[in-house]
Amino acid sequence: MANIRYIQILVFALCSSVLIITTQSHGHSGLPKRHAPLFILGDSVFEAGNNNYFNTTARANYKPYGETYFKYPTGRFSDGRQVPDFIAQYAKLPLIPPYLQPDLHDLSYGVNFASAGSGALDGTRQGSVISLKTQLSNFKIVRKSLRKKLGDEKAKSLLSRAVYFFNTGSNDYLFAFDTDPTVLGSYSQQEYVDLVIGNMTAVVEGIYKRGGRNFALLDLWPMACVPYGRGTLQKKGACFDTITPYVTLHNKGLANALQKLEKKLKGFRYSFISSNKFLTKRMNNPSKYGFVEGKVACCGSGPYGGIFNCGGMKISKKYNLCKNVSEYVFFDSSHPTERVYEQFAKKIWSGNSITAPYNLKALFEN
Ligand SMILES: *[C@@H]1O[C@H](CO)[C@@H](O)[C@H](O)[C@H]1NC(C)=O
Ligand SMILES: *[C@@H]1O[C@H](CO)[C@@H](O)[C@H](O)[C@H]1NC(C)=O
Ligand SMILES: *[C@@H]1O[C@H](CO)[C@@H](O)[C@H](O)[C@H]1NC(C)=O
Repeated sequence: MANIRYIQILVFALCSSVLIITTQSHGHSGLPKRHAPLFILGDSVFEAGNNNYFNTTARANYKPYGETYFKYPTGRFSDGRQVPDFIAQYAKLPLIPPYLQPDLHDLSYGVNFASAGSGALDGTRQGSVISLKTQLSNFKIVRKSLRKKLGDEKAKSLLSRAVYFFNTGSNDYLFAFDTDPTVLGSYSQQEYVDLVIGNMTAVVEGIYKRGGRNFALLDLWPMACVPYGRGTLQKKGACFDTITPYVTLHNKGLANALQKLEKKLKGFRYSFISSNKFLTKRMNNPSKYGFVEGKVACCGSGPYGGIFNCGGMKISKKYNLCKNVSEYVFFDSSHPTERVYEQFAKKIWSGNSITAPYNLKALFEN
């Protein structure tokens, strides 16, 4: 009798502790409590609306941006969701809000610091973007606020589990070719690339120093042949090949820099992601991946839709808009469609063909 009673109590105790554990592992929102947050840094490819909150023309807060998914323009430079939105979903996180959103309270799932038009260099479109260095400063402010709210130990654990997701660099080269050629100055191609990579890795190290351990970085896609390269940089529709040596050097340089950081920094883990390989395949062979048009933008003006005028807010009110955005690789002159971003996100989440040494899922599981 006594034994049975003891066992009953034990079973009851076990059940209730299981109950306590399961209820405790979920927050109020039903999201897992021991999650890894997602912090996002970079440019328009990751922009989720920061630029809506200060005086700049580098915005996508007008129609038809956002129509496919959000039904209103959020500031994202696509018809719908972007890669970080899908990654957040796969990691069971909510949509990650932009840092400058006025009602930002819960920072514990991550924050999006990205700003359209920004590069790794401070001088790139200075004054009309949030530079990468300032994005790091904003991260420091978020970190301080998390430490205040959660205490040092919990904040430290959260920030070391977090994934830091970067897309930056292309604007440092675009700015030099489409706005201010003097920034290339007397630098050799390699020297200019080294400045860009050096400034990128300085920010990665800045986050590492403050407890970040898991980093994912995209390389540069084939900038010469995207609609903007053909319709704005080259103007007549051919690829703007002048930029390609920079892209090649940059992608090699970034891969090397990350390998070096892994050797130098204890516990540093990373995904080096080849957006170049991924996008080149879809541009050259769209039908293989379920698309009809790989080179012309769905929305824009001029050759290949390569003039950045989607929505009719830049050079004139008139612009072209395709009938079926799902058929297109590019939504506007410089940015892929939601459908492309979804394929991309799936590949980098659990695949290993364009992501090494870790994929995103592995980075989140730590
Ligand atoms: C925004 O910037 C533009 C260009 O620099 C300037 O002409 C305009 O006055 C600014 N607007 C505000 C509200 O500050
Ligand atoms: C960052 O870029 C600036 C030029 O904008 C350069 O002077 C500086 O040395 C670079 N920093 C690193 C760490 O490469
Ligand atoms: C739009 O294009 C996609 C992809 O080719 C296709 O599956 C879909 O049926 C098209 N929708 C319409 C309304 O034509």
